[in-house]
Amino acid sequence: MTEKIVKPLLKWYDENARILPWREEPTPYRVWVSEIMLQQTRVEAVKPFFERFVKNLPDITELAECEPERLLKLWEGLGYYNRVKNMQKAAIVVKEQYGGKLPDDYERLMSLPGIGSYTAGAIASIAYGIAVPAVDGNVLRVITRVTADSDDIMKQSVRRKVEDELGRIIPKERPGAFNQALMELGATVCVPNGMAKCEQCPLAKFCTAHIQGREMDFPSKKKKKERKIEEKTVLVIRDGERAAIRKRPTKGLLAGMYELPNLAGHLSEDEVLREMKEMNFSPIRIQKLGVAKHIFSHVEWHMIGYVVWVEESEDMPDQMILVEPEETEKTYPIPAAFTAYARYLNIRLGQEKYEKNEKE
Ligand code: ADE
Repeated sequence: MTEKIVKPLLKWYDENARILPWREEPTPYRVWVSEIMLQQTRVEAVKPFFERFVKNLPDITELAECEPERLLKLWEGLGYYNRVKNMQKAAIVVKEQYGGKLPDDYERLMSLPGIGSYTAGAIASIAYGIAVPAVDGNVLRVITRVTADSDDIMKQSVRRKVEDELGRIIPKERPGAFNQALMELGATVCVPNGMAKCEQCPLAKFCTAHIQGREMDFPSKKKKKERKIEEKTVLVIRDGERAAIRKRPTKGLLAGMYELPNLAGHLSEDEVLREMKEMNFSPIRIQKLGVAKHIFSHVEWHMIGYVVWVEESEDMPDQMILVEPEETEKTYPIPAAFTAYARYLNIRLGQEKYEKNEKE
């Protein structure tokens, strides 16, 4: 990272900085509140929330002592309520240990609840003039473009690398302006969605991605793979007292656990009955159950289900066993994915038959 970016960046910031309420009076408390709000919401949307919050709770002691319900009310509409709960926890620490004044020390700021390297860097540099970086998503985008760095920005190591690089060039006289200039550039010129406005950018001639015409190749962000959706038909197979369960393969998802027998796809009653006969069952009656969904980290099961009553037989397909329903709880753990259908294991055939006959 070249130090040459510092001057043009600061000049651009002086000419283009937006007028924002927390910039007019950048006390540590106001910077803190604004930065926490800005982590989840756009600048324009934050403004009214910020004004209301600092008017109602003008300092850290007031925040520390605020009734939790009133606090949540003041945050209402911003979402991510844990953030404001953490702010109150931090405010209590600041009140008790630091006399109600946020510490003017990066490491001490970092040790407070809800304050990570970005927020600590922003408070330290903007409010206290300490020369430490504040790297958020906007800054990561600007810097990975300037350096044409194709490392995955979701990795903590990349953020640390960018913090190190910026730490070396951040100007001691104006660290807060430098950090905010990078954020501002990322928010308004080197934008997150759509084409970068390189013709307006003070860093264009130092920007490797721009020189190579590859602005949109950065930042590189590994996409989370979308979950695969698997449709399944789950069967509660009953012969009198017992129910069929099956051992899953020893490898892969839910390896070695027991499950309710199931078939790939969403099958009709007729299709299920045909499959059951293939498995040497003699079905007596079938009843459709509801739908259910189970989400694993990489797969979603979208399930439909049937209860199928069958003639008693010892001729069972591979890996399938008939067990007393009570045994399943003690001996054969059925994964939570089948919870919606496992409760039908306890239906007694005798009773069902009886009810059925009565209605007929
Ligand atoms: N986004 C988050 N904090 C900001 C700040 N202080 N200035 C500009 N954009 C921001």
